[in-house]
Amino acid sequence: ICMPALSRRNFLTSLLATAVLPWATTSPGAAAPNVRQFRLRAATGTASLNPRSEQETGVWAYNKTVPGPELRVRQGDRLRIMVENGLAKETTVHWHGVRTPNAMDGVPHLTQRPIATGDSFAYEFDALDAGTFWYHPHQRSFEQVDRGLYGALVIEEANPIPVDRDLVWVLDDWRLTHQGDASDDFGHPHDAAHNGRMGNIVTINGQVPETFEVRRGERIRLRLINAANARIFGLDFRDHQPVVIALDGQPVTPHSQEAGRIVLGPAMRADIVLDCTGRPGERFTIEDTFYTGLEYNLLTIAYQDEPLREAVPDWPLELPANPLAEPDFANALRHEVLFTGGMMGAMVMQEMGLATASGGTVDGMGAMMRGGGIWLVNGVAAEGHVLEPMLALPRGKSCVLAMTNATAWHHPIHLHGHSFRVISRDGAPTSHREWRDTVLMAPRERIEIAFVADNPGDWMFHCHILEHQASGMTSVIRVA
Ligand code: C2O
Ligand code: CU
Repeated sequence: ICMPALSRRNFLTSLLATAVLPWATTSPGAAAPNVRQFRLRAATGTASLNPRSEQETGVWAYNKTVPGPELRVRQGDRLRIMVENGLAKETTVHWHGVRTPNAMDGVPHLTQRPIATGDSFAYEFDALDAGTFWYHPHQRSFEQVDRGLYGALVIEEANPIPVDRDLVWVLDDWRLTHQGDASDDFGHPHDAAHNGRMGNIVTINGQVPETFEVRRGERIRLRLINAANARIFGLDFRDHQPVVIALDGQPVTPHSQEAGRIVLGPAMRADIVLDCTGRPGERFTIEDTFYTGLEYNLLTIAYQDEPLREAVPDWPLELPANPLAEPDFANALRHEVLFTGGMMGAMVMQEMGLATASGGTVDGMGAMMRGGGIWLVNGVAAEGHVLEPMLALPRGKSCVLAMTNATAWHHPIHLHGHSFRVISRDGAPTSHREWRDTVLMAPRERIEIAFVADNPGDWMFHCHILEHQASGMTSVIRVA
């Protein structure tokens, strides 16, 4: 880049100023991190979600776009993000999956005061882990995320694996009225007691997708992010065999999923490598088959006329590990976590031989009529802001959470501030060294997760079906 001397000097001076002032804590000898500054302004706006229609939909957006801007940094960088609240409502931003210091976690009333209308808040943290993450409000998230406040945060490896294209697909669904407006029926107890609030159109990066053009021989790294409130995606790539290389940002042993289907609950991410093995002119559909009876074609993969290369490239797929502490299973503390409630909750508890009297159960229909908490974590249906921890974990200790989903519904369970190993599902050990920040529990499923409680603070632990989170399925884990 060729810059006139003066502006180049100004540029260096301002760079130095930002690099020196706010972080005097860098230990002597450590290289000063590269500071990356961003500005996100939350405000109302409009989006044309469907390219086949003229309709504009009213949205809430960061920097006027849905999704908000893709923040892309390098592992080891320091992020400084100025969030401005241009909404009429309070908000915050949570950096989903990123191991930030507690005060930067963006949970209103727990880690910070909500950002008032017209105010701003500077978030600042280091990109410790490379991977695919995302950001969204944690204030009335069932409404704010749904209206369009979300975006991708990509932390690149120092030495990324070679690919021809590195793309982000942020998946979402929207409940639109016939006029194409966003329906404002938020907080409906029927949604909360069932699957959550599902939409009637699906978008990728804010657009109803049609075709995705590829070339024979091309290798694409696709970073899939599920930003929907409630919809679980089960993407069937049919004749293609995507290789999963990371889940929730954390590298796994590269493997292809059974039947090539990628399942993503709300908030979950998968990095997949797609080798384009079709022939010029061929077309394939990617189908979403998660909900039986509601299958639909998400989009068409269209091969362009010019191949890129004849054979699939013989390049490495394994990502370097992130600096996560490996849990010490032999000396781990063990805690049981029981999820109950929702429609048919009492029935499932009986089936599973769990006491309904002592376990604390809420019959979903009754709770709906009383307008109370519909879901419970260890017998408690949290209402409003949760401040009291359900568990206190000693800092530095390895912990196993043995979780039981005693409900008739799926729940993507998310822990803030940490990534955890998924060690077993229904008693069977997992493979591929699976690390996550959100794990999808099927109805009646038991899952054990393990992690080192090494990030001090009060951390949310909740279902990421945002209607479930808002109706009781939320708690706090303290690390001290
Ligand atoms: Cu993505 Cu507590 O949230
Ligand atoms: Cu849930």
